[in-house]
Amino acid sequence: MLRQGVYQQIAPVLFGSKTVGQAGQKAKEAGMGNILLVCDEGIRQTKLDAKLGRILMDSGIGVTAWYGAQTDCPDETVEEAVRIIDGNEIDGIIGLGGGSVLDTAKVIAAAAANGLDILGEVVEYLSGTKRYQHRPLPLILIPTTAGTGSESTFVAVVTSSRLDAKVGLPCSADCAIVDPELTMSVPPFVTAFTGMDALSHANEALAEKKNTPHSDLLAFETIRLVKTYLPAAVTDGSDKEARENLAFASSLAGIAFNESGVHIGHACAHALGHLYHVPHGICCAVLTPAVIELQAYAYPEKMKRLGTIMGAEILSDSPVEIGIKAADAVRTFSKSIGIPSLKEQGLTEEQIMKALPVVQNDPLAYAYDGQITEEVIRTVLQRAYQG
Ligand SMILES: [Fe+2]
Repeated sequence: MLRQGVYQQIAPVLFGSKTVGQAGQKAKEAGMGNILLVCDEGIRQTKLDAKLGRILMDSGIGVTAWYGAQTDCPDETVEEAVRIIDGNEIDGIIGLGGGSVLDTAKVIAAAAANGLDILGEVVEYLSGTKRYQHRPLPLILIPTTAGTGSESTFVAVVTSSRLDAKVGLPCSADCAIVDPELTMSVPPFVTAFTGMDALSHANEALAEKKNTPHSDLLAFETIRLVKTYLPAAVTDGSDKEARENLAFASSLAGIAFNESGVHIGHACAHALGHLYHVPHGICCAVLTPAVIELQAYAYPEKMKRLGTIMGAEILSDSPVEIGIKAADAVRTFSKSIGIPSLKEQGLTEEQIMKALPVVQNDPLAYAYDGQITEEVIRTVLQRAYQG
């Protein structure tokens, strides 16, 4: 019997090569006349900000560019951006960049309309005990990497100095523009770990409590596309077919994990990212095999299918065997595209285990559709470290 569930796509996605050319029209449709363009210094170097700025200004949209977005969205960066908005009569936000930039744009849109106090009440907003008093500013998100899926999700990850943790704040785009040509200049290593982030979203969406046949469909197609096209994009960044399919995969995975969700892998990744500033995609890549081994107990058939897509030959129906073989296939794939282990990142097992209490306190970990105990978290962290 197919599971009950809600099928949803939170923001319309305009997808395809050269669609960024329609950004001015989309901004007008969203009611924007004078926007804050949220970027980081990396985007300034690619000159994509200048290209987008021209497109917007040609449509009569006023543009103030801000390059202060930082990895994992520290809340003081949001404060800085909101001060600029207050002084410039800004009526819309456009985020252009990777996952952290898009998340920063989301949080700015919510904080500009509702005040900076929301940054200290992130947990209340995520749990639904508090709701925004005002609608966030209109928001368009334009990813320049293929992996985050942030343009399609209802939540942004923010590093709260008030809570000393990476936490999720509910906020979503009004519209996304996914133009694969914007990802062409991403260097090989970043291409590799952002692609593995998309794979981890798909994998965890298969076994989160809200998973549906619809989210499964999107997740399995994401896994197939990442397996097929990520090595080619890492080898040759100008491979248009590979870039297009990875941008599509990232977008599909975003919809899948917005509808279903991510769970213990991302809870561990957020903890390790916060403690040691390991890039999010690398954390997800090294955690995914350990998560697969766990998920094989709750969903052996799905993990068998995932393992087969990733190139494993799995004849057994034993969850342990399925988990080991499917995890091995992902581990081999990950190494083949140059993802380093946590050891190679210079971390010790003792350091990794310091994430355990952080993960234990993260509600995200318990979104897994199976039992999560201290022992389970310990095993996932240890297996991720062993590689
Ligand atoms: Fe992620």
